[in-house]
Amino acid sequence: MIVALATPFTRLLGIEHPIVQGGMQWVGRAELAAAVSNAGALGILTALTQPTPEDLAKEIARCRGMTDKPFGVNLTILPTMTPPPYGEYRSAIIDSGVKIVETAGSKPKEHVDHFKAHEIKVIHKCTSVRHAMSAERMGVDVISIDGFECAGHPGEDDVPGLVLIPATVDKVKIPVIASGGIADGRGLAAALALGAQGVNMGTRFCATREAPIHENIKKYLVDNDERSTNLIFRRLHNTARVGKNSVSDEVVRILSQPEATFEQVAQLVRGARGRELLESGNLDVGLVWAGQSQGLIRDVPSVANLVARIVSDATMVIERNLRAMLR
Ligand SMILES: Cc1cc2nc3c(=O)[nH]c(=O)nc-3n(C[C@H](O)[C@H](O)[C@H](O)COP(=O)(O)O)c2cc1C
Repeated sequence: MIVALATPFTRLLGIEHPIVQGGMQWVGRAELAAAVSNAGALGILTALTQPTPEDLAKEIARCRGMTDKPFGVNLTILPTMTPPPYGEYRSAIIDSGVKIVETAGSKPKEHVDHFKAHEIKVIHKCTSVRHAMSAERMGVDVISIDGFECAGHPGEDDVPGLVLIPATVDKVKIPVIASGGIADGRGLAAALALGAQGVNMGTRFCATREAPIHENIKKYLVDNDERSTNLIFRRLHNTARVGKNSVSDEVVRILSQPEATFEQVAQLVRGARGRELLESGNLDVGLVWAGQSQGLIRDVPSVANLVARIVSDATMVIERNLRAMLR
């Protein structure tokens, strides 16, 4: 049975279910984003997965050919000496008529201003209450708050969702969606109970039939448990949570030496290697981005089945399990 859980967030974005597929480098392509949107949730393409802004425009057109439902584009602002041509990527998004953008990373103001000037709804993903408050002041429409459990960059404060979600909800007036460590209906119900109006998931969507990655990687996510991650780059103040494998173990080992520098691991962590891992299924060639929610992933369903299951399980938690406790 497919039910709907409507919140102000779903109404704001014109989507059926309060579930977002967060931007994912090399994974957030049209096949996945369209499947998520077709399932009534919000699919998101990842801008920087496309080598050029022109390729992004083509990917947006391809996604539009696969769904007539709303979908968004993620623009990740990387702390790099040689930034990609962000202005051109922004223009590709704006000119393509996309109406929803997920921004992530530091100093998003120039990007947010540009998108807002074109009446694009901006979901800003961040990892602390203070960054959520500053993004609200910038005029974003939704905060996606990413707890310490998450895949990717959890920030440096190490605050998990159980505290971070309600702490954020208490400090901003705009809708908050909960991200990090969520993979099933219990997580969605819990996030709603904590005051969020929806959830954002990354790792869970990688283990779906439509995720455009090698089957070995999906099996790895299913076989892993909640302890199967490594935190890398801690001492560089750019912490990242990735799946545990020989490469991330080696990065942790090298960077634990007192005088170690980023240059010593630069080759190991190159994005091209991560892409090769996802395409070849060879788990020893690079980093694999994955969060603690691996401990909750036990199958590789279609996106439609996953979304329907999460919504119906969340409804059951709310309606049956919790209600039964009332005296
Ligand atoms: C394979 C993968 C790649 C990711 N790449 C990005 C990215 O490029 N930009 C971004 O903002 N977040 C990225 N993320 C983070 C997700 O968008 C999301 O915030 C995170 O996965 C939520 O935590 P969860 O994995 O526990 O659901 C990535 C996550 C995964 C699993």
